[in-house]
Amino acid sequence: MKFGRKILRDVEGYVPGEQPADPKVVKLNTNENPYPPSPKVLEALRALPADAMRRYPDALSEELRCVCAERYGYDGADWVFAGNGMDELLAMVLRTFVDPGDTVLSVYPTYVIYETLAQLHGALYKGVELDEGFQLPETFFSESARLCFFARPNPPSGACPPRAEVERFCESFDGLVVIDEAYVDFADDDCMDFPKRHENAIVMRTFSKSFSLAGLRVGVAVARPEIVREFLKTKDSYNLNAFSQAAAVAAMGDYAHMEANVAKVRATRGRLIEGLQALGFTVPESQANFVLAQWDGAPSAKEIFQRLREDGIYVRYFEHRRLENALRITVGTDDEIDRLIDALKRILA
Ligand SMILES: Cc1ncc(COP(=O)(O)O)c(C=O)c1O
Repeated sequence: MKFGRKILRDVEGYVPGEQPADPKVVKLNTNENPYPPSPKVLEALRALPADAMRRYPDALSEELRCVCAERYGYDGADWVFAGNGMDELLAMVLRTFVDPGDTVLSVYPTYVIYETLAQLHGALYKGVELDEGFQLPETFFSESARLCFFARPNPPSGACPPRAEVERFCESFDGLVVIDEAYVDFADDDCMDFPKRHENAIVMRTFSKSFSLAGLRVGVAVARPEIVREFLKTKDSYNLNAFSQAAAVAAMGDYAHMEANVAKVRATRGRLIEGLQALGFTVPESQANFVLAQWDGAPSAKEIFQRLREDGIYVRYFEHRRLENALRITVGTDDEIDRLIDALKRILA
């Protein structure tokens, strides 16, 4: 295409019909939360005056940054930066701290957007190969780059390297370390305290997963105030709209609601893994709200993906190296997982 960029995002998630209103469809392909957000979020949105639409929102998202700082054990909004989903924060960290031609490090496989964003920015991207069990190889610790994207838990397997490993990496790495904790509320522990001890650590969270607010687009980054100040210099003037700010503040105010939903998802994750293993899938340990179901028999994983789709069950299939024989499946409700397992039994019979 004459005006097309040579680098294209993976647009699989944008296919029309992918966000169906049809309640019969079981949507397990984009790692959303199967449960609704806190009722306090809806109350907060309904309570917003018409002026919240007429006027520009708070350009600094002060209230949201304050409640996040308090929850995460930091001394005020100076330690927090808010963005229009974590994806905006990932793009911004490149815009703010990386020059074209610099090297951006991560692993393979991981969140595909890292590479796309690095390429769009004109940076060189290096994805260090994870071992067969999707764990970090020792060579990763001697890499050098301007910035590293470190997802913990890491998609698409959900593997979660020990905190001590991330800490060792932060200590030895010469650039910024973006610890992507999009899925960490579903995991056993987190690295939210690292920016206190490591000047190169930036911890990012999203409200899209554990807080069930993917449609509102809110993400936060926690880092040293001198890093946050740099973010503020490069952001769009009003990057977070008034509704998203109010919703995220309300969601943070009902933390117990999020934790209760997470507990349900974690319990269902165990059932899902057992069900898949009983059918002959190999499933690496996951600490996220999705699992990677590996399958090298017949029919192929791609055929299974297509047959599930015909049955109204959407999972994710990647045409990527090492993932051709796998399906990434979001943990839904117990009913949704029962439907998936029943459909798989029929397909594999
Ligand atoms: C590892 C990881 N990081 C970041 C994001 C982006 O989240 P958001 O919805 O806040 O843009 C995702 C979304 O799927 C993700 O999988």
